[in-house]
Amino acid sequence: MKDKLNKIEEAALLAANEAVGEVELQQVRARYLGKKGEITAVMKGMGQLSPEERPLIGGLANEVKSRLEEAFALRQESLRQELMQQKLANERLDVTLPGRVQRAGFKHPITQVTEEVVGIFTALGFGVAEGPEIEKDFYNFEALNIPKDHPARDMQDTFYISEDVVLRTHTSPVQIRTMLDHEPPVRVVAPGTVYRRDSDITHSPMFHQIEGFLVDRKVTFGDLKGILTTFINEFFGENVAVRFRPSFFPFTEPSAEVDIQCVICGGSGCRVCSNSGWLEILGSGMIDPEVFKSVNYDPELYSGFAFGMGIERLAMLKYGVNDLRLFFENDMRFLKQF
Ligand code: PHE
Repeated sequence: MKDKLNKIEEAALLAANEAVGEVELQQVRARYLGKKGEITAVMKGMGQLSPEERPLIGGLANEVKSRLEEAFALRQESLRQELMQQKLANERLDVTLPGRVQRAGFKHPITQVTEEVVGIFTALGFGVAEGPEIEKDFYNFEALNIPKDHPARDMQDTFYISEDVVLRTHTSPVQIRTMLDHEPPVRVVAPGTVYRRDSDITHSPMFHQIEGFLVDRKVTFGDLKGILTTFINEFFGENVAVRFRPSFFPFTEPSAEVDIQCVICGGSGCRVCSNSGWLEILGSGMIDPEVFKSVNYDPELYSGFAFGMGIERLAMLKYGVNDLRLFFENDMRFLKQF
């Protein structure tokens, strides 16, 4: 019996060491230490022994059993270690590989300039309004006192969708929509996309404008000059000279175009300013009483001014860009510079 137990122990230890993986080790363990295992079988056979031998063999069997338990536990632990080492070796990360750079997006220069202009006017108390790009003749022309024979209405200059629907040629229709919706006082800027049949280095069939207007009691041309001069000094700098030049728009009276001292040559004359020393940057004027009539404002009670400017032109002058089309070609080498 003693011999048998020793042989079982030896065989069990050998099998445990040869077991590959925990599953196999469990099977070996069951074969020797399980309910139907070999040690258990020996212990069951002890009834046949003499009363003297029984405690000796019983004690020995228990010792063998606990030694084996210990050996299996150790083997199990070392199998786990092996597995872990293998995993670490296979799944090693190369931390020296360069990472993937997350490139942050940025706003298009036209959006940046629009936001800057809107920001300057909102700081002066103006709200922001928007209107549709596909516009009725009434809002784009009629209500703005633009007569039927005005050249702007020509098929040569305007994209017509139907006889009385156009792609808006300026942001001024937003004046009409806003005034029809709100009683004075109003002060609003309206940025947006506009369309004209024009295309060369300073004209694009699609471009952007920002409109602004203010209506209240006793608004004067002095208010117009004050607000626009403040805007120009914020946008182009304190030291830029500003000039108001008489002009004509059907929807303002009197009207003025506003020039700034040439930002390229400082006023001494160059190619950009056609040697005049000045650059035109916006159209403006006191809102014509005819316009007030079409939105049911009483021209005896209210007065106001309006202005409109091209965003691309502002951006070109501020950043020294010499071809308008660069803004629409989406060449990253150009856009990245802003
Ligand atoms: N709508 C005019 C244009 O597109 C600009 C303008 C707006 C002029 C408001 C005067 C007042 O040229």
